[in-house]
Amino acid sequence: MEPSSQAPHPSTVAPAPAAPSTPFSTVIRTASHAQHTEAENSSFMSDLLGGRLGVTAYRRYTEQLWFVYRALEDATGALAGDPVAGPFLRPELARTPELERDLAHLGGPSWRAGLQPLPATAAYAARVTECAHHWPAGYVAHHYTRYLGDLSGGQIIRGTAEKTWGFTRKGDGVRFYVFEDIANPAAFKRSYRALLDALPVDEVEKQRVVEECRRAFRLNSAVFHALGEEFPLSA
Ligand code: HEM
Repeated sequence: MEPSSQAPHPSTVAPAPAAPSTPFSTVIRTASHAQHTEAENSSFMSDLLGGRLGVTAYRRYTEQLWFVYRALEDATGALAGDPVAGPFLRPELARTPELERDLAHLGGPSWRAGLQPLPATAAYAARVTECAHHWPAGYVAHHYTRYLGDLSGGQIIRGTAEKTWGFTRKGDGVRFYVFEDIANPAAFKRSYRALLDALPVDEVEKQRVVEECRRAFRLNSAVFHALGEEFPLSA
């Protein structure tokens, strides 16, 4: 008789304990940490947050954001039903109307006349649009990089802007940083991270999303670099 008792049936073999997999929200955050520090410490951002630049620099920066958010938000209609990007698109995140109010405050009613993006901004917006049209998971990387950042460090920028240039607290000039319809940003960020953790793509695709996130940070840094050249400190 075959000693079958010595060869356990495959279904009775306990699977090797899976390495506890790191949630994707942690992976993407950790993977972009170095770029985050770099963007935060760019000379333009440091000078802006240090109150060393005039309101013209702040306005110029806000103009660049308008081009980026238009690219992010022009895409939302087409992506709404997408299984990967769709769940991230929440109307309470939309920033274009707020940016337009801020820009009208900063530049007057004709703020839009002749407004051109810096080449670095045009490249950033073009990449967002490309992802939106051809690669929804890549679009998620851009969505995360901007909106989760706005809900976090954006609040620090708002405080500085109010203090430095005298905007009304949470009023015109800094509305971009005010999410009127998000009562509890910490809870919102938690549910956003849960969406990231449940991203319905395989590991290879997740790695590509992480790479796109790093690229998104680099694109932001390039805009800061260009702004830094336009607004060097005279001191
Ligand atoms: C001077 C500028 C900045 C400051 C002071 C700042 C500060 C912060 C802070 C305090 C957090 C919260 C970290 C935490 O929850 O532990 C954060 C998160 C974040 N920031 Fe920034 N930040 C700045 C610039 C940027 C830029 C330029 C970007 C990208 C465009 C960005 C993207 C993010 C993202 C995506 C998160 C969320 C990380 C996560 O929890 O997954 N930040 N930032």
